[in-house]
Amino acid sequence: MARLKTAVLISGRGSNLEALIRACADEDFPAEIALVISNRADAGGLDHAARAGIASAVIPHRDYANREAFEAALTKTLEAAGIELICLAGFMRLLTAGFVQHWRDRMINIHPSLLPAFPGLDTHARALAEGVRFAGCTVHFVRAEMDHGPIIVQAAVPVLPGDDEHALAARVLSAEHRAYPLALRLVGEGRVKVVGERTEISGMGDAPAMLLNPPDATRA
Ligand code: GAR
Repeated sequence: MARLKTAVLISGRGSNLEALIRACADEDFPAEIALVISNRADAGGLDHAARAGIASAVIPHRDYANREAFEAALTKTLEAAGIELICLAGFMRLLTAGFVQHWRDRMINIHPSLLPAFPGLDTHARALAEGVRFAGCTVHFVRAEMDHGPIIVQAAVPVLPGDDEHALAARVLSAEHRAYPLALRLVGEGRVKVVGERTEISGMGDAPAMLLNPPDATRA
């Protein structure tokens, strides 16, 4: 089976990129990372691409007069490489409705919250301030509204006593490193269909029936 030709767009550290690279290293994985693009030359994630022998490009947004011109350069580079799917992985640029429409249902994003709760920045601090018992991450198809769109995978992690922003972010990040490869696998296998701004996933098993936090000490 042909593997889905995927580009990963980053702006920084690239730990999600690294998780995707690891998943794609398995030759049975239904997607391959053909290109990594960063809008910042100093993005640490570019090293992960280099080490894995993956082509990369730096397209600095500051070199362009406006968002449209920047995005036209992105699309040109992506299309020249024959990219079929874009994975946003810590790509910290807002995208215009035109770019999002061009890549509609061919662009996915990971966000470190259980969307639609806590979109945008300072996710973990806001979750802690609200006292939620579960945090997590979401992989979704991208729509023009930031951190919004048909949900593919969510992973939930508990918020624990004594958590600060950093502890919670680290717990969520390890969940991200499992959720993003799973989402890419499902999309690569052609099992994810967008129906009325929700997704239907074929052949999906049952998730655990319930998670309680705090746990119910009276029940095993
Ligand atoms: C990740 O936590 C990702 O979910 C978040 O940026 C981080 C990038 O880390 N993305 C967003 O907040 C998008 N709204 P990474 O560079 O190590 O993958």
